[in-house]
Amino acid sequence: MPSVHIGCDHAGLDLKRFLLEKLAALNWRAINHGTDSAESCDYPLIAKKLCDAVIRTGEPGILICGTGIGMSIAANRFPGIRAALCSCELQARMARRHNNANILCLGARVSGSELCAAIVASFLENEFEGGRHQRRLDEIDG
Ligand code: RB5
Repeated sequence: MPSVHIGCDHAGLDLKRFLLEKLAALNWRAINHGTDSAESCDYPLIAKKLCDAVIRTGEPGILICGTGIGMSIAANRFPGIRAALCSCELQARMARRHNNANILCLGARVSGSELCAAIVASFLENEFEGGRHQRRLDEIDG
């Protein structure tokens, strides 16, 4: 069973709980990096913990905050992380196929939970196409 890392701040907690059930149904083992409390917390700390795990394992990750913006800004500071904030299935599919994104960011106050479940499924079931897209990623890092 493949593994996916998942983390959220207080604003993303309900959505994360919902997605944990969906991930189990999709046969993904979810590794939870917190928060598991509704108390206000700081998203950069969760982003760092999850990014460390994604870099260490090579497994994909999902980060959730209110808008998804803070998590995506924080995650993209880490070398080797390509975090994509997605609000539709097309973005999630292309984030994998063209951008080789290894983290999906979601905005719990922006996108509905069923839509987020579809976005997650699209992210996890698509693969990087390589070729000219690898050259472009190399240009970002170079
Ligand atoms: C928390 O109120 C909110 O600022 C956070 O979840 C996130 O949306 C930040 O980008």
